[in-house]
Amino acid sequence: MAVRLSDDFLEQIRDRNDIESVISNYVELKRRGRNLTGLCPFHNEKTPSFTVYPETSSYYCFGCHVGGDVITFIRNIENLDYIDAVKFLADRSGIKMPDENFDDTVHEKRKSTYEMNRAAAKFFHETLLSEKGKKQLQYFLNRGLTKNDITRFGLGAAPDDWHELTNYLVSHGFKKDDLVRADLIKLSEKNGKKNYYDNFRNRAIFPVIDLRGNVVAFGGRVLDDSKPKYINTGDTPVYKKGKELFALNLAKNGNNGKLILCEGYMDVIALHKYGFTNAIAGLGTALTPEQVTLISRYAEEVYLCYDSDEAGQKAVKAALSLFSKTGVKVKVIMLSGGKDPDEILKKQGGQDKFKTLIEESLNAVEYYLHITKAKYNLDTADGKKNYLNDASRILARVGAIERDVYASKLSEELGVDKNSILTTVSYNTNRENRAVKREAFKTAQKEEREVQKAFDPERAKYLRAAKAEDIILISLLNNTAFYNKLKADLTSDLFITPLNKKILQLLTGRIDEGLSVEISLLAPHLTSDEMNVVAKLFADTSMVSNTIEECVDCINVLKTEKEKQEKKSPSSMDDQAFLDFFASLKKSEDDKK
Ligand code: CTP
Ligand code: MN
Repeated sequence: MAVRLSDDFLEQIRDRNDIESVISNYVELKRRGRNLTGLCPFHNEKTPSFTVYPETSSYYCFGCHVGGDVITFIRNIENLDYIDAVKFLADRSGIKMPDENFDDTVHEKRKSTYEMNRAAAKFFHETLLSEKGKKQLQYFLNRGLTKNDITRFGLGAAPDDWHELTNYLVSHGFKKDDLVRADLIKLSEKNGKKNYYDNFRNRAIFPVIDLRGNVVAFGGRVLDDSKPKYINTGDTPVYKKGKELFALNLAKNGNNGKLILCEGYMDVIALHKYGFTNAIAGLGTALTPEQVTLISRYAEEVYLCYDSDEAGQKAVKAALSLFSKTGVKVKVIMLSGGKDPDEILKKQGGQDKFKTLIEESLNAVEYYLHITKAKYNLDTADGKKNYLNDASRILARVGAIERDVYASKLSEELGVDKNSILTTVSYNTNRENRAVKREAFKTAQKEEREVQKAFDPERAKYLRAAKAEDIILISLLNNTAFYNKLKADLTSDLFITPLNKKILQLLTGRIDEGLSVEISLLAPHLTSDEMNVVAKLFADTSMVSNTIEECVDCINVLKTEKEKQEKKSPSSMDDQAFLDFFASLKKSEDDKK
């Protein structure tokens, strides 16, 4: 990333935006010695592994391995690119941005994508209210929407034509290839001939708007029963499905810490129409951990309101599992007498009926008991026995108080002695506990491996070397003066893992020039993956003793590792080295004899 912001300017941003107070706006931090900890806002967790280091103005999460400086934090939490994050902090603290022209194509691409989407949304909306959108308007009206609903959600119409949107956007100065990147139009090439055409045609349009009010994507529904039912914007510079939630921009305000999560666009619109303005929906994907994290920022309690069909109930179970890893309370709304909220609101008592459904919603235990019960005929002894057996396994996974409450209920319901229920439960508890622990351990291990691989595939292969490199880097970050004493030995080809090598080059380059190596000054030179690794080095200071001797030891470890590595690949040796190598092999063979 070639952004030319001066060190002076970045230092000013850092000084005026104290990392502790900036992060406190998003995370509840508790002091622990010199540092602060809290629940990580970037992944779901129940015990805090997110740490803020005021001394180095950095943060790092030991759970999901992300970290950085105050700018990185804003960039990730507000989903901005680097320059916009800097601007955000400059605005916040009344610092004027320098007037230079930034070379930042990422920022430009995102900005122009937002502009194209906004223009397209305007086109779709105007079309809906014109002659060309008559069918679509009729469709919305038939489904009970008013002009008011249409405006509130910015609904639109894609005309029954291959080029109208393309022509409109081109006439407004946008380039076709940029429009392709925004997935507003498609490009097909046949016999070397380029053909551009509108992605959304003859469809009712639902714009997806992010938390900052930008149009980031569109969903387009057919007006009849043809397939595919929806066409959605694919990945673009500003949109990745699974990261966004429909209508969260509207629902985040005044929701009392409660959100209703449903499946479809029409469900959300119907709920808002009946006064449930805290309804949101996923966008055609199974709920993702990112969406769960986003929800947990705006709600303490979430009501799952999925379709009553099999797919919907499968989604409920997956969502319950995701939310169970967070502090968010979950309730399941049982939709009886209709397939989805839209249908129920219309066909049954509207607002009142739905209020009752919310009041009657089930927590996770109740939900699992409910669906288990439905599997058996409780009029038969066998049915009762099987239900009790399954139920006791459900109760084996919950805390003592809940267990007692539901054991009482079951006992009443089935006319079985409460104590015998509790005995069965505790029999199952050990088994379930072991299974849960095994599962948790396995996933944690798998995640750790994946993270390592993603950041630096070479690292896992040379762990001993990587650790020695880490210690040298941490020592240099803490004591730049060490570099002069180590310089003779510390060349970058001593380092084995590519990412550490790159970091070493960056550090020593800056130290040579007499520049500081603070994290906020390194940030512009690092990709976000690299930044996570550097933030970990800043966080791991307790690993080192901060002595020259330790660094020298590590340099020696690296030299040995390097030799070992070179021995392993004879092809990289010169002739003499190869002969020596051969002789040493022979010698060790002879020794064995
Ligand atoms: N969806 C999708 N692609 C499809 C089908 C569904 O992206 N082919 C997504 C849409 O975001 C949709 C949601 O999944 O809103 C729920 O799907 P569904 O219940 O089929 O659609 P509804 O929006 O509820 O439409 P309707 O009420 O008209 O049936
Ligand atoms: Mn639906």
